Amino acid sequence: MHNVMGMWFTQLALGVSYYAIPRLLGRPVYSYALGVLGFWTNLLFYPLIGAHHFIFSPVPWWLQSTAILFSVGMMVPVWAGTGNLLLTFKGGGGAVRRSYALPFFVTGLIGYGLASTQGTIEAFRTANIYWHFTNFTVGHSHAAMYGFIAFIAWGAVYGLVPRLTGREPRYPLLARPGRDPDLRDLDLGGRSPPGLRVGGRPILHRLGDRGRADVALADDRRSLDGQ
Ligand code: HEM
Ligand code: HEM
Repeated sequence: MHNVMGMWFTQLALGVSYYAIPRLLGRPVYSYALGVLGFWTNLLFYPLIGAHHFIFSPVPWWLQSTAILFSVGMMVPVWAGTGNLLLTFKGGGGAVRRSYALPFFVTGLIGYGLASTQGTIEAFRTANIYWHFTNFTVGHSHAAMYGFIAFIAWGAVYGLVPRLTGREPRYPLLARPGRDPDLRDLDLGGRSPPGLRVGGRPILHRLGDRGRADVALADDRRSLDGQ
């Protein structure tokens, strides 16, 4: 069961984050090396943690112990990924405030780090004996599936669909009750993906037709440069 979370949902959410966050911020990811470390350690540790659902159950003791050990190992990819992606936002506070997509990513990443740490703690026998049959487990499920996966999924939808279609949500206020919910959010960092065109023209130009994207470009660059 947990491998569905780790080998499917988590990888999808991290993959889309590694693509969308640099795209939306218009800057490279903080560390390529941390990204590679996160990928391979995820692949190493995650497949073997499934038995942490069966602590004190009739599965071999050594298998449970292996799962606990690897659950501790999971802190490497979890914090390599969380740290790497959160550090990519360094200096990008202005962009986050103006965007309705980026706050979903920030929240989702914090959810990932915290929920997974909670999971590692619950994997220990000394904690699991008390928490297994309680709402602590359900809390972990939601902190992860909701706080991490659902937030990243919505961040991806709000961040990438407008870039693909050239249209923004009809009611941006519903997406992000905050300041400046206007076209500027659409092209954070001001870069349309190369070759991504709407009506035969780059999205940025098309938005420029509506008179706002150029302002956005200058504005977002200023905020990213910390000016
Ligand atoms: C990577 C570090 C993680 C560790 C070490 C971890 C650990 C655990 C443990 C020990 C349990 C079982 C608790 C019990 O029943 O006593 C559990 C349950 C669960 N975890 Fe995680 N978790 C991690 C990350 C995640 C992530 C990223 C997700 C979601 C994407 C997730 C989703 C769930 C769900 C849904 C359950 C409940 C499953 C069920 O009751 O059948 N976990 N986790
Ligand atoms: C307002 C939103 C939500 C509410 C009110 C809610 C409520 C609940 C409740 C009452 C349970 C049963 C808990 C129990 O067995 O005692 C549950 C379990 C679960 N929910 Fe949700 N949920 C919500 C959103 C979500 C979302 C968005 C996801 C996934 C993306 C999710 C995934 C799960 C999972 C995996 C379980 C099983 C947890 C376990 O057995 O440990 N939930 N939810």
